[in-house]
Amino acid sequence: MTDATSDPSASPRELVMRVMPMPADANGNGDIFGGWIMAQVDLAGSVLPLRISRGRVATVAVNEFIFKQPVSVGDLLSFYARVVRIGRTSITVHVEVEAERNPADPQLVKVTQANLTYVAIDRDGKPRPFNTP
Ligand SMILES: CC(C)(COP(=O)(O)OP(=O)(O)OC[C@H]1O[C@@H](n2cnc3c(N)ncnc32)[C@H](O)[C@@H]1OP(=O)(O)O)[C@@H](O)C(=O)NCCC(=O)NCCS
Repeated sequence: MTDATSDPSASPRELVMRVMPMPADANGNGDIFGGWIMAQVDLAGSVLPLRISRGRVATVAVNEFIFKQPVSVGDLLSFYARVVRIGRTSITVHVEVEAERNPADPQLVKVTQANLTYVAIDRDGKPRPFNTP
């Protein structure tokens, strides 16, 4: 097991995805479904593990998921990820989601954060040490 850096919190975050939720993604209150946000975070979180492992990955665990603020239709969501731990076959990433809202009076709001772990897998879906095709 090796940490991504000697101080993982110092690892730079990277913009990995942007998306704008639509009315079909909202619940009866007009807020965006938590499950929709979780799916987007799972996708965004996989970007760095896919790149680092150079192959397929599977989500093995969601270690933390916090909805800090509601998300609304029309918010422009930016997903930032950074690697916090690299193991033998697994990579854990921290994902932060920021919403850009209200174009007339622009605001940037941190809405969600999560930690997810991905495992590099081979053709049979078994864990694969990194850099093994
Ligand atoms: C991912 C999967 C292939 C791992 O298989 P496994 O036999 O459990 O693998 P292992 O026990 O050897 O663990 C593999 C790595 O995952 C890590 N891991 C396993 N369970 C974990 C957990 N709950 N939290 C964090 N890491 C975990 C291990 O520490 C290990 O990391 P390392 O090699 O870097 O030390 C298997 O669990 C699987 O197919 N799960 C379903 C994945 C999936 O379909 N995800 C989509 C959502 S349904």
